[in-house]
Amino acid sequence: MDRDLLKQYLEFYRDLGVKSVFVEPNAAPLAAAPPVAAPAAAPVRTPAPPPPPRMEPPVLRPTPQIDMSRSTEPSKLFPSDFPVSPDNDTLVKIREDMGDCQRCRLCKDRKTIVFGSGNEHSRLVFVGEGPGADEDEQGLPFVGRAGQLLTQMIDNTAGKEGFSIRRPDVYICNVVKCRPPENRTPEADEMEICGQFLSRQLMVLKPRAICALGGTAAKALLGTKEGITKMRGKWHMWREIPVMPTYHPSYLLRPTSGQTAKREAWEDLKKVLHYVYDDPPRPLSDF
Ligand code: URA
Repeated sequence: MDRDLLKQYLEFYRDLGVKSVFVEPNAAPLAAAPPVAAPAAAPVRTPAPPPPPRMEPPVLRPTPQIDMSRSTEPSKLFPSDFPVSPDNDTLVKIREDMGDCQRCRLCKDRKTIVFGSGNEHSRLVFVGEGPGADEDEQGLPFVGRAGQLLTQMIDNTAGKEGFSIRRPDVYICNVVKCRPPENRTPEADEMEICGQFLSRQLMVLKPRAICALGGTAAKALLGTKEGITKMRGKWHMWREIPVMPTYHPSYLLRPTSGQTAKREAWEDLKKVLHYVYDDPPRPLSDF
């Protein structure tokens, strides 16, 4: 790969907050390249007819050097001062860049990469934690029991509030795109590695609001240690996009979660729907 392009790519990922790059131990050294140009302020794609061959992302593979032990560090994925994503970024390009991702240990047991689904022009994005068994089978987010509850919550709440919005009208994705074994919580480094793709997805989608489903998604997006009970029901910001954390549907399915949590989740969703879809729009401070 051309050294300048590699440099731009690495700078881009560094600016996204990705701190670790895993390189195959026996990777061939870079071929001799012309001297490195002065660093660009932001990743720039060179417009040149005929177009250059599409740049491949750096090959990031798990190697024996990766610490495969479970990490306990809280995620600090998404500081609010991220630079913009590359010009002309698209969901298709992001998915292509993921490829047959082998960047973290979650690739070992997954069947399918669950990228996200829904309306790419949606004003509302839901972010969950990571795929479960059904999602891993089908390659789609939130299609199992929790997904059915989420669908009902969206469809029923929107219907009751007078919005003609249904699940296919919103966009849904997860912090990690591969199923963690036994549905365990994703590790901080797994979320950091996969977070570069979530971050790019959100920057491309540019929704009016994000609904973070559960503590893991909320913490990943907002970099806080606070529990979901404290965070829910209040607006937070990811870059300049309002984020409403609420309970994860899996939690609401537990017999122990109780009526209060269910009512609160419905209230949170109502707030989000009104903020996103009220016409004329009202300021965030109204909600
Ligand atoms: N739980 C999640 O967080 N995401 C899914 O896609 C399914 C269940």
